[in-house]
Amino acid sequence: MNRRLFAVFSLFALVLALPAFAAPDGTAIFKSKCTSCHGADGAGQTPAGKMMKVKDLRSDAVQKQTDLELTKVISGGKGKMPAYGKQLSTADVQAIIVHIRTLKAK
Ligand code: HEC
Repeated sequence: MNRRLFAVFSLFALVLALPAFAAPDGTAIFKSKCTSCHGADGAGQTPAGKMMKVKDLRSDAVQKQTDLELTKVISGGKGKMPAYGKQLSTADVQAIIVHIRTLKAK
């Protein structure tokens, strides 16, 4: 491989690799993918959330679940809750759970 080709290739590889280094923004992902049903505050007081009777994500019933349990619901789905395992990486789901923990009623 000549040097210029190598330089171009390296740059390309770097650009491809960059998103993997940036920590996922759980708050932003939650806002874009989850609020339609769960609401920005996690209370589930949206038309879709009320119709499906989603639990308040701030409640003890949800907050007392372990990260692993929440990961399973988010990645694998449950009832009418869509599975996000194909769209979201483990790191994305982890970041969302960190966000869900911050919703907890103080
Ligand atoms: C189409 C509406 C909808 C969307 C969008 C949605 N959810 Fe849900 N979610 C539900 C429903 C309905 C349940 C209840 C599932 C059940 O218990 O049968 C649920 C349950 C949950 C639970 C478990 C709480 C419990 O009931 O114990 C978590 C955590 C959760 N959702 C997180 C998320 C996250 C994070 C996203 C975005 C990536 C998301 N949801 C997007 C409808 C939705």
